[in-house]
Amino acid sequence: MKSRLRFAWGAGPAQARVALVQGGRLLAPPAWPIGERRALAAWLAAAKFEGAPATTAWPPGVANPVLLVGIGTPREFHAARWRRAWAAAGRALAKADAVASAAFAWPEKTDFPMAPAELAELAAAGLAAGAYAFEDFKSKKRARGFEFRWLGATLATPAVRAAVRRSAIAGETLAAVRDLANRPANELGPMELAAHAKRLARQAGLPCRVWDMAALKRERCGALLAVAQGSRRPGCLIRLAYAGRRGSRRKPLVVVGKAVTFDSGGISLKPPKHMDWMKFDKSGGMTALAAVLLAARLKLDRPVIAYVPAAENMPGGGAARPGDIVTARNGKTIEILNTDAEGRLILADALSFAAEEKPAAIVDVATLTGAVIIALGHEATAVLGNDDALVTELMLAGEAVGERLWPLPLWPEYDEMLKGQFGDLKNVGDGSAGTIAGAAFLKQFVPADVPWAHLDVAGTAWLEKDESYGVPGATLAGARLLAAWAARSR
Ligand code: BES
Ligand code: MN
Ligand code: ZN
Repeated sequence: MKSRLRFAWGAGPAQARVALVQGGRLLAPPAWPIGERRALAAWLAAAKFEGAPATTAWPPGVANPVLLVGIGTPREFHAARWRRAWAAAGRALAKADAVASAAFAWPEKTDFPMAPAELAELAAAGLAAGAYAFEDFKSKKRARGFEFRWLGATLATPAVRAAVRRSAIAGETLAAVRDLANRPANELGPMELAAHAKRLARQAGLPCRVWDMAALKRERCGALLAVAQGSRRPGCLIRLAYAGRRGSRRKPLVVVGKAVTFDSGGISLKPPKHMDWMKFDKSGGMTALAAVLLAARLKLDRPVIAYVPAAENMPGGGAARPGDIVTARNGKTIEILNTDAEGRLILADALSFAAEEKPAAIVDVATLTGAVIIALGHEATAVLGNDDALVTELMLAGEAVGERLWPLPLWPEYDEMLKGQFGDLKNVGDGSAGTIAGAAFLKQFVPADVPWAHLDVAGTAWLEKDESYGVPGATLAGARLLAAWAARSR
């Protein structure tokens, strides 16, 4: 259940107003009465509200409620902080039960190092993401409609309006996929996920194909099947395709997303602590679906195709054992030494399918390793690949939309770690450089002449606690980035 968002323009009724605070200074639009600005400035000083990024406050004693939103100091300006600040605004407004509409603006002249349309697009994206709440399983729902009203001349140019319209469309699509990503594993197994993917595809007018277990066997997907066989619920492979703008003859971009609807670890069972969060191990797949839906809704020129291998990693009687040797679709044999390194197994076969599309590039997205959280925490997605230009393109797209990527190396020397004893490959390295080992494994399933990158979103795909800028649960990290990358790719 999502709150329905509307964006409106120009003066009109609004129950609250939003103003930015930068380095302890109020950035109110010039139209605001001077007396009110003085009062707010006095409150800022007295309350010592410096406006740290993504902090908010409702100062008391204002006739018309004002929400103050911190964006940090001018030196701290960054697309990611700017978007997060607006997400905090969205969250604070959504939480204020008495407020169903808000007007906002920022000064005509700012020192923000981005164009007005880019600022507005990110602000709208942040508002939409921050106002989202997942209430499908609450008997009492709080979500409701909300209207954001844009004021000020610089904020009403055609470019800004188009940017906000794009963000509003994207926000709707992302909320629908986030509802799916937030569903618990008892409610969403691989086949339920496939049914939802088909529904979303139908609504967007896109073809969607699903390979079931029998079809996967025919297609020699031994690695994906090895993961799926431990659960009573069958696994599958989902393909969702956007053909690009009519007449587009360009090679497709293929996005491959890991969708493990629950990762118990399998026979290499995980410890119980925090295992509940492993319902979000389908996040990469959800991001891949969202990227294609965004490409379609935004009518991008470039064809974009998603492959989503889906499985539940369980220790059932038919489960794969440590020591099992399976054959992947590309013919390579894999010794499964740890059944908890399942993401790379299901991705291996999906990457083979992706390569068969003769793509311009492949990007996979996966909550692949706990090690990436050790390396980067929750502030950046790790990016690795076989093509430095592709990695750079992705990083730049991320900088533009405020979703940070950070590179790790993938030199051929790391391949040694994955040589098998009894088969071609083993599915774990030597315990060092866990995120690189995962990527080095995936690399074995992509032809060397196809540009490929891997995004490890294990640290960014979900929020574990309530933050000023978002509710706990799925974030769809990477979705807007991939759509921006597809939009820019030439
Ligand atoms: N889904 C997990 C990765 C993960 C762990 C995501 C913690 C978020 C938080 C993945 O399937 C996994 O279990 N990876 C193992 C790999 C290891 C066995 C080589 C890991 O990271 O421990
Ligand atoms: Mn695992
Ligand atoms: Zn996993």
